[in-house]
Amino acid sequence: MQFNKKHILDIESLDPEEISMILDTAEGMKEISRRPVKKVPTLRGKTIVLFFQEPSTRTKLSFDTAAKRLSADSISISKASSSIVKGETLIDTVRNLEAMNPDIIVLRHSSSGAPHLISKRVKSSVINAGDGIHAHPSQALLDMMSVREKKGKIRDLKISIIGDIAHSRVARSDITGFSKMGANIFVCAPQTMIPMGIENLGCTVSPNIEACLDEADIVMMLRIQKERQGNTLFPTEREYALRFGLDKTRMALAKKDVTIMHPGPMNRGVEISSDVADCSNSMILEQVTNGVALRMALFYLLSGGSRHADSN
Ligand code: CP
Repeated sequence: MQFNKKHILDIESLDPEEISMILDTAEGMKEISRRPVKKVPTLRGKTIVLFFQEPSTRTKLSFDTAAKRLSADSISISKASSSIVKGETLIDTVRNLEAMNPDIIVLRHSSSGAPHLISKRVKSSVINAGDGIHAHPSQALLDMMSVREKKGKIRDLKISIIGDIAHSRVARSDITGFSKMGANIFVCAPQTMIPMGIENLGCTVSPNIEACLDEADIVMMLRIQKERQGNTLFPTEREYALRFGLDKTRMALAKKDVTIMHPGPMNRGVEISSDVADCSNSMILEQVTNGVALRMALFYLLSGGSRHADSN
């Protein structure tokens, strides 16, 4: 089966069959990273631009690693190292990148909609690596891959997402993706961090964290996105941690085999305690490992690959 999408801009534009195809392909890619020589020639001759206008550790390095493991040439630019600081617009910058004939542009941007805008102006494929508070599709896909791998399915699981839902592009993409794949999603946060109409994405707003944890198969903790909050939306970090943080005592309210997730970066002692972040139920670092395979799958499929990767 051929993958027919030119861009990966959000989860809304992927149907469940396409999501399954990406996850299946990523599963196949994972084995390459376990080899002594972690490189295949599949995308030799392809050029991938990584254009990150916001800081990133996991997303940028995993896209870069993914490109290198498939033998593509990856080129990185950031806002600080580009001529954007001299007044060049995003569109002009991207048109200049386009003039160098890349195959795929990966963009992280502080403005919601920036990847959609550039996808209309360039011939290359565009992958959204996180835009404002809008979407982070590759994170949601790697989260779905991780849940499917851990629990053997996504359908009918209770997935609780706790934290700054209002400012989290991960929350929006995860709610949309997991709900498309048949999970039951619950969200919990201070009232000031629950956006109006969030239920329309396919989730239930939980009255309190205890209800969210009860019978949960997956608990995903989210960081408070201070960089996107205009005013302070909660009294103190200490109070937030007491009411909405996950520590071992609170975790006991969930099932024994509950899986703890976090997209990172974590603020230990605020939304998650160290004893939870590092416990055996946590798959936070496995999410990062899966992020490389998932991004290899995106590059491969956007370059014309079919479901079962010929990894050579
Ligand atoms: N999950 C995530 O997007 O992390 P980074 O900001 O480090 O890329």
